[in-house]
Amino acid sequence: MKYEMSAENAVIGRSAEDLERYRDKGTAYFGKVVMSAGEKPVLGRKILIDVAKPHLMLICGKRGSGKSYALAVFIEEMARLDPEVRQRVSSIVIDTVGIFWSLKVPVRNNPQELEKWDLKPDKTDARVLVPKGMLEFYRKKDLPVDGAFTLRVSELDTPEWMNLFKVTWKEPEGVLISRAVESVREKMGSLYGIDELISACRNDIEAGKSVRDAVVGRFENVKTWGVFEKEGTRLRDIARPGMITVIDVSSYRQAAGMEGTRDIIVGLLGKKLFEERMLYRKEEEMRFVKGLGRESELPIIWMFIDEAHMFMPKDEESFALSVLLEWIRVGRQPGLSLVLATQRPNKLHPDAISQCDLFISGRMTARPDIEAVSQLRPSYLHQDFDKYYQEMPRAKGYALILDDESEKLWLVKVRPRFSWDAGTTANAFRD
Ligand SMILES: Nc1ncnc2c1ncn2[C@@H]1O[C@H](COP(=O)(O)OP(=O)(O)OP(=O)(O)O)[C@@H](O)[C@H]1O
Ligand SMILES: [Mg+2]
Repeated sequence: MKYEMSAENAVIGRSAEDLERYRDKGTAYFGKVVMSAGEKPVLGRKILIDVAKPHLMLICGKRGSGKSYALAVFIEEMARLDPEVRQRVSSIVIDTVGIFWSLKVPVRNNPQELEKWDLKPDKTDARVLVPKGMLEFYRKKDLPVDGAFTLRVSELDTPEWMNLFKVTWKEPEGVLISRAVESVREKMGSLYGIDELISACRNDIEAGKSVRDAVVGRFENVKTWGVFEKEGTRLRDIARPGMITVIDVSSYRQAAGMEGTRDIIVGLLGKKLFEERMLYRKEEEMRFVKGLGRESELPIIWMFIDEAHMFMPKDEESFALSVLLEWIRVGRQPGLSLVLATQRPNKLHPDAISQCDLFISGRMTARPDIEAVSQLRPSYLHQDFDKYYQEMPRAKGYALILDDESEKLWLVKVRPRFSWDAGTTANAFRD
């Protein structure tokens, strides 16, 4: 066992029953309890967070408060679980900023901080996938990436294309897309590319020319992104047992009209994993009913999403939103967990706040954001959130954790990372 079980550890997010049974197995070492928060904060027990059972974790805090850093700490821990547990867990990281490749590089700049914690710099075993079009760029810069990913065209159904093109069934464009997808599928099964969809649109005799031209134009545009391929990465291959896969979607910020791609990637990935897990659960239950015993091969899945308000916005419809809400509502049973980080809880879908069972927060100062998380106020809190925020140490790396299992609010100092931090704040000094 990696961390000795003693009065020095506090395991949170774990039921009393599971604590009795599993002790601190399958937990993430997140930081230490702050005993007194004055000028020189005094640190106490280690905080270990349960990652063996499904959770919805929400990480909030204003800009630069350490949300991405905290995500990295979690991911480092996922790679360091006991092999027996690790084999049952698969982690996927949606990297919206392009910073998590640095998990693969041991920390260099401040090893003294790690020493104080009795820890050593170390790399983390993660697989970093970037969009095909960006692979050259990463390789030229000598950044450690493992490969490219693309989406397999046949994995997109009509609603997904309509979503990407922002058209509905009410419009003739939507109807044409649906006919094109159907006819191509009928002829070619699941191996077709955008060119086949374009031909199907061109040859459609029922649609008017202007509708055909509009849809063909959209497909031609999508082709230039280099994201969709006849034989793309199969989404089901992304969640591998014991593995951490970082999917870098940061480049989709820059190109106009491409933001939808990010949404489609997360939405599709979430949907496939959800369907697969549900199907698997059914088979597993059938085996059990037949007296064959339960035997789970599919890992439980953790999806880490930085800047989560992009995928789960409050006042907009999005494909990823509908899928992730399913994860939140029924993900517990098929073993789907989410860790969402955002600096704008006020822009996040309220279900992502109200349903979280672990709330981790750096300081927040904006009134609307504090109000958004105030709905979480459980009976075991003694004062309002803004009071807690005011009392928090101002230095970096402190977080409040609300845990429904221990029914407690913890003030924690996040442990230093083993790996290089590519998210350091840009500044104009050269020191
Ligand atoms: N626990 C910590 N220990 C030491 N430094 C930290 C810690 N947390 C964050 N930092 C430092 O603070 C800076 C900002 O951290 P980070 O990028 O994680 O913030 P963020 O909350 O994700 O910000 P943004 O909202 O801009 O994405 C970084 O330079 C990081 O190295
Ligand atoms: Mg960040």
